[in-house]
Amino acid sequence: MKNARVGILISGRGSNMASLVEASKQPDCPYEVVLVVSNVTDAPGLDFARAQGIPTWAQSHIGMKRAEFDELVDAQLREANVEFVALAGYMRLLSPGFVQKWAGRMINIHPSLLPAYKGLDTHQRVIDAGEKTHGCSVHIVTEALDDGEIIAQAEVPVLPGDDADILAARVLVEEHKLYPQALAKLVSGR
Ligand code: GRF
Repeated sequence: MKNARVGILISGRGSNMASLVEASKQPDCPYEVVLVVSNVTDAPGLDFARAQGIPTWAQSHIGMKRAEFDELVDAQLREANVEFVALAGYMRLLSPGFVQKWAGRMINIHPSLLPAYKGLDTHQRVIDAGEKTHGCSVHIVTEALDDGEIIAQAEVPVLPGDDADILAARVLVEEHKLYPQALAKLVSGR
C-alpha cells in the first residue's frame, strides 16, 4: 500500500512536526509528510521543514474570519492530496466546518493525560495541583477543545523540585516518541 499523505499544522517551534518527519524516514513507516502549514509566517518549525525539502505554506490568519482562513488551509491540504492532518503545536481553534471535513482523519498532541488538564499551561497546573503523574495524549480532533477519542497516551512522573520547564521537557521527550507511533497507527487503519 502506498504511504498515507500527511499534512502538519504548526504555529511555532515545530519539534513534534520534526519528530513526525524524522520517523517518516524509517522504511516501515506507513506515512509521508507532504505539506507543513503555519498560521505564523516566521514559525521556527518552517525552517526545519524547508531544510527537509517539504513543501510549506504559511500565511497569517490576522484580520481574517476563522472559517475563511480555514478554507485557505483546507484548499492547500487538498491541493497537496493530503489524507490525514496532524496538529503539532497549532495554536488556533479550528472552525466547525474544517473539523467536519477532516473528521476521523485529524489528530492532535496535547501535553496532559486527557481528559485531565485541557487547555493551556498544563505543566504548571499539574504542579500546582500536586499531581504525581503527568504526560501527553494524542486524540482525534473534534469541535470541542482537546476533546475527541484518545488514541495514545504516555506517562511521566512529576518529581519533587520540578518547575514547569523541567516538567515540560520531560513530557516533550515522550511526545516525540508517542506522536509518530499514534499517527502510524491511525493511518494503518485506513
Ligand atoms: C507541545 O507540547 C504540544 O503537545 C502542544 O504544543 C507544544 C508544541 O511544541 N500542543 P512543538 O511546536 O511541537 O515543539
